[in-house]
Amino acid sequence: MFSFFKKEKKQQGKSRLKVDLHSHLIPGIDDGSQSMEESLHLLRGMEALGYKKVITTPHIMMDAYGNTPKSITAGLNTLRKTAKKEGICLEIEAAAEYYLDDGFCDLLKKGDMLTLKGNYLLFETSYMAKPIQLEEMIFEILATGYTPLLAHPERYRYVKDPQKEYGRFKELGVYFQVNLNSFGGHYGKEAKKHAQFLSSHGMIDFLGSDVHHKKQVETLGNVFLLDAYSDIFKHNTILNDTVF
Ligand SMILES: [Fe+2]
Repeated sequence: MFSFFKKEKKQQGKSRLKVDLHSHLIPGIDDGSQSMEESLHLLRGMEALGYKKVITTPHIMMDAYGNTPKSITAGLNTLRKTAKKEGICLEIEAAAEYYLDDGFCDLLKKGDMLTLKGNYLLFETSYMAKPIQLEEMIFEILATGYTPLLAHPERYRYVKDPQKEYGRFKELGVYFQVNLNSFGGHYGKEAKKHAQFLSSHGMIDFLGSDVHHKKQVETLGNVFLLDAYSDIFKHNTILNDTVF
């Protein structure tokens, strides 16, 4: 028997923010989109969710993705041109997501970092092991004149005492970018719990899609319908649109 509900199109929410500042949309340069076709699909999805601008952030990781400002800018230019030709109105910019390894320290010494407006430097660490020199590296970022912005703090398994460990990051002057899909459970129970902790304690500064593939754009539409999504804006000052 036909059910009315089966025929109903699945409801999708919209983003309250104009800017997304964490994604992997330049084809073939990291573990995100692997083709121009895939990138265009992801961009159309982000546009349909209400975003006006995406600042895409390819990985820079010494042992896996040797991207440079030059290669990222070249990829960005091709993506922009193709998207425009295809009628996509979304503004597209690029920065980078830096992995804290020895290569990162060398890059920092040289300068020439790809940052967000306001000098925010998006960085990540290993998920499992807290880098031994984490605090020193954060001091270095600050001393070089950048504002450290930690990608997805909710996803690091080494965080066992959220109050203490997230509190320490904040004392050091680290800003937090939480992944929206963490609120829908996309990265597991622990990441969801930590995202909710950060939200209820007013510790979130930026929200990101961290889109690598199609599924993550689809699930974002569901996250925008959650009470947890509305609650973020009650307890936190979200800065995404300041980097437009
Ligand atoms: Fe990422």
